[in-house]
Amino acid sequence: MATRKPLISGNWKMNHTHLDAIAVVQKLAYSLSPADYERAEVSVHPSFTSLRSVQTLLDADEVPIALGAQNVYPAPSGAFTGEVSPVMLAKLNVRYVIVGHSERRQLLGESDEMVNRKLVAVLEHQMVPILCVGETLEEREAGTTQDKVLGQLEAAFQGVDAAAAAKVVIAYEPIWAIGTGRTASPEDAQAVCASVRSWVAKAYGAEVASTTRAQYGGSVTPDNVAELMAQPDIDGALVGGASLDAERFARIARLGTGPA
Ligand code: 13P
Repeated sequence: MATRKPLISGNWKMNHTHLDAIAVVQKLAYSLSPADYERAEVSVHPSFTSLRSVQTLLDADEVPIALGAQNVYPAPSGAFTGEVSPVMLAKLNVRYVIVGHSERRQLLGESDEMVNRKLVAVLEHQMVPILCVGETLEEREAGTTQDKVLGQLEAAFQGVDAAAAAKVVIAYEPIWAIGTGRTASPEDAQAVCASVRSWVAKAYGAEVASTTRAQYGGSVTPDNVAELMAQPDIDGALVGGASLDAERFARIARLGTGPA
């Protein structure tokens, strides 16, 4: 079985000015040691307004934290007022781009088709998409979690070949667990991540599936991260609220180990 290094990503959403972002990344860099980066890869996803400041800091101090974005528009340039292109992100050494976050799907009307276009655009510009999928509470209670998640995967990967698909990180984020303090049980999160991997195996073959990283997201904290990461098909976490504080996020990046 392929060994997959966990990817711990901090999605800051619409939080932190560029000055706050610099302070958090400085603290985070100070807290994490080479041994921590051995154990897990770490990415931070600040707002667009903070990307350049954080990039400058990471580059100047050679901090091995990957820079991530929260969104992108699927065109290299053009008349798209207010949008940010993959060319602009790539130029800032952005490595990971979140696509299809449930907040964008629900609050900003992002369709499956748009998510697919964004995924393709990120790959075309040699960055790595973190594709978010997940069900609502109603869907979970109706027993349609699998249908929802696999349907979102089907739509998002339209026209993506195996070589490109192998690069995509898939984040399972049950919507009812986001920002609610309610975490999916490790067993439930594992079950969905396992079916995500089976879907990848069916679509692209066992080899691609064995290297695909599947993250869990939804109220991840320093206290529950270890149990979640111990599941065989969970290869990292997409962390919202608990990533805003450097000390808490460092403890998550250490997979719950080390000093409290
Ligand atoms: P919380 O960790 O705040 O629940 O947010 C999860 C999330 O949406 C990360 O993308």
